[in-house]
Amino acid sequence: MHSPRVIHLTAGDVSLVLAAFSDDLPVILHWGARVTATDQDLEAFALAEQRPGLGGISDLPYRPSVLPEHSRGWFGRPGLSAHRGGAGWAPAFRVDTIAVDGTPVPAGVIQAGAASIQVDAHDEHATISVNLEIDLTTAGLLRLRSSVRNDAAEGAPLEVEDLMVALPVPTRATEMLDFSGRWAHERIAQRHRVVRGTHGRPSRRGRTGLDATTVMLAGTPGFSAEAGEVWMFHVGFSGDHEHALERGDGTLAFRGGELLLPGEIRLDPGKEYVGPWVYGSHGAGWDAASARFHAFLRGVSRSARRDRPVTLNVWEAVYFDQDAATLTDLAERGAALGVERFVLDDGWFRGRTDDRAGLGDWQPDPVAWPDGLRPLADRVRDLGMEFGLWVEPEMINEDSDLARAHPDWILRAGEELPAQYRFQQVLDLTQPEAFAYILGSLDGLIRDIGVSYLKWDHNRDLVSAGHPATGAPAVHEQTLALYRLLDELRARHPELEIESCASGGGRVDLGILERSDRIHPSDSHDPIDRFDILRNTGLLVPPEMMGSHVASRVSSVTGRTSDLHFRCAVAFLGHFGIEWDIRELSDGERDELATWIARFRRLRPLIQTGRTVGGGEDDPSAPSMRGVVAEDRGEALYTVVTPRTTADTLARIRFAGLDPAKRYRLTASVPDSLGPPWQVPDWLRAPDLDDDGPAPVFSGALLSTAGLEFPTFHPERAVVVHLRAEEAS
Ligand code: GLA
Repeated sequence: MHSPRVIHLTAGDVSLVLAAFSDDLPVILHWGARVTATDQDLEAFALAEQRPGLGGISDLPYRPSVLPEHSRGWFGRPGLSAHRGGAGWAPAFRVDTIAVDGTPVPAGVIQAGAASIQVDAHDEHATISVNLEIDLTTAGLLRLRSSVRNDAAEGAPLEVEDLMVALPVPTRATEMLDFSGRWAHERIAQRHRVVRGTHGRPSRRGRTGLDATTVMLAGTPGFSAEAGEVWMFHVGFSGDHEHALERGDGTLAFRGGELLLPGEIRLDPGKEYVGPWVYGSHGAGWDAASARFHAFLRGVSRSARRDRPVTLNVWEAVYFDQDAATLTDLAERGAALGVERFVLDDGWFRGRTDDRAGLGDWQPDPVAWPDGLRPLADRVRDLGMEFGLWVEPEMINEDSDLARAHPDWILRAGEELPAQYRFQQVLDLTQPEAFAYILGSLDGLIRDIGVSYLKWDHNRDLVSAGHPATGAPAVHEQTLALYRLLDELRARHPELEIESCASGGGRVDLGILERSDRIHPSDSHDPIDRFDILRNTGLLVPPEMMGSHVASRVSSVTGRTSDLHFRCAVAFLGHFGIEWDIRELSDGERDELATWIARFRRLRPLIQTGRTVGGGEDDPSAPSMRGVVAEDRGEALYTVVTPRTTADTLARIRFAGLDPAKRYRLTASVPDSLGPPWQVPDWLRAPDLDDDGPAPVFSGALLSTAGLEFPTFHPERAVVVHLRAEEAS
């Protein structure tokens, strides 16, 4: 028996044990809770798990590597599906090198902290090589990706149909949670049992998708925000992609990667295809797993260290009906409320009086804006705010000067243009001239007007998106062109911030989030739906990277009415802002909104750095909760929402994440009515959030373990609770 190469990486409370037997691709023997073991223990463990497999005398199933191979007896979906004119479709890879942080690993055991593993392997007969990168970050987040190269010196291209990496999960994870959704109601939870076969969530929309799952979770029975063992999975790609969980004979694994269209990747000799990063996070409860994603994003975000400015977006105030006087008036009113960033939404560019025309003509409309946008932007800055602008750079209306001048810049798979979708088509960014036009237009706007923030929208799915000249599929290259465009703009403008919007939350993934500063989680600001959208999207995205706006009393999407306190309280734990016609505010509403804005400005250091608790789906008959707790557990904020009308008048809520040894001063913003006064517990008569005077003090142990009773009598009410640890005396 060959002695295996064993690599054990640890970060925080996570361990990854990987073994490579002889020169086979490595297998993950353990990904989960941290283990402590000697080199000798690890070697014995790896050897004990070695199986003769298909090549020996055994009919034991093959243990899939991170890139499972059909040639070795894997009968699920192979990691790589590729061929060269029908040949070379069953490669058997031989490992050339395995390295940790660039240093080759000989036989034996390597133990390290957060590190990066690289594996190079090839199949001589198929003349294909693959490379694997497997990283464990300091926050304990696992990420891996694979690439494939055509090693032939000449001849037919290598057609890559599929490159999906696998992350094994123990079969004791028998339940799973993933998300579906639609326009204006993204990330609807579905909880179900793991069954044999594959639960796949493909997305072929050319954008992440309003119905995309964002994350997929598997866990031990009854797993929740705080309990059970949880494995969370995410594919960080903004084009076509798939999340899947596959249960086989003794195996369970997440599989993920890019979904390729027929003939989309044809590698000429020497060429390579690199799949997207896929991510895995393990934790005791999903809040712990989600915290690793948040730490990762906060680490790569270049705006994470800046206070999130209170935003006024004017979409729901004026829609397409723009003029300088109205928008200046809105800016002045916003500044008076304490707004710090003013965002001019759709409707400002040439011919854009509705959504049928104008996309592509990125110059201010001469009728609505005879003097251009600069005077408005200057006024916004004079008022002490930043100026932001809506754009939809990947799109084009057939009714635009750009489409008339360059009909060959529209993606299409055949002679005919694809069906319109919101009256628009997709601009082919893979063509250098089209790319240069858009880059130049955006760069010019940023410089001429002084734009510090782009709301970057993407309002249609990609249908029959081929390169116009050949009809060949273009989604993969279009997605990479988008990334190049964002990277270039950010390189030219290091202070520029970008919001990823796609009809709401249709483009939420780490591919885009590594290049942007926040997302627009949904077009629905209805606080009832929005609370769940924020909570579920928040499994991946930290609160300060989710736009969270207070909109009109009657929701423009659901038609439901909710009072201002409820709307503000639900929006509070996010990147707070307004999306409402603030000209219609009564004096009372203006004061109330200004109070919430001032509160956000005071408490945002906690919101934008704290650890999220209470994320994910919940019991619909109990109050729902989202919270953020400071890293040192010295301070916390929670939004508690009453459930739909239920059989219970009162329910207990526990304040997760607190330090049991600390005592916390409690203040709260409570709506006028939570139920008949005699049913409201005394603790809810605590001083208001802004009150620095005496306040009740509670033990962290009791708040987080026993909890406090909460009235559930009136639905559609929310309370924001602020806890601050008493100084030790
Ligand atoms: C999309 C966005 C909205 C708004 C409109 C403008 O629907 O999600 O927020 O910007 O486009 O057309």
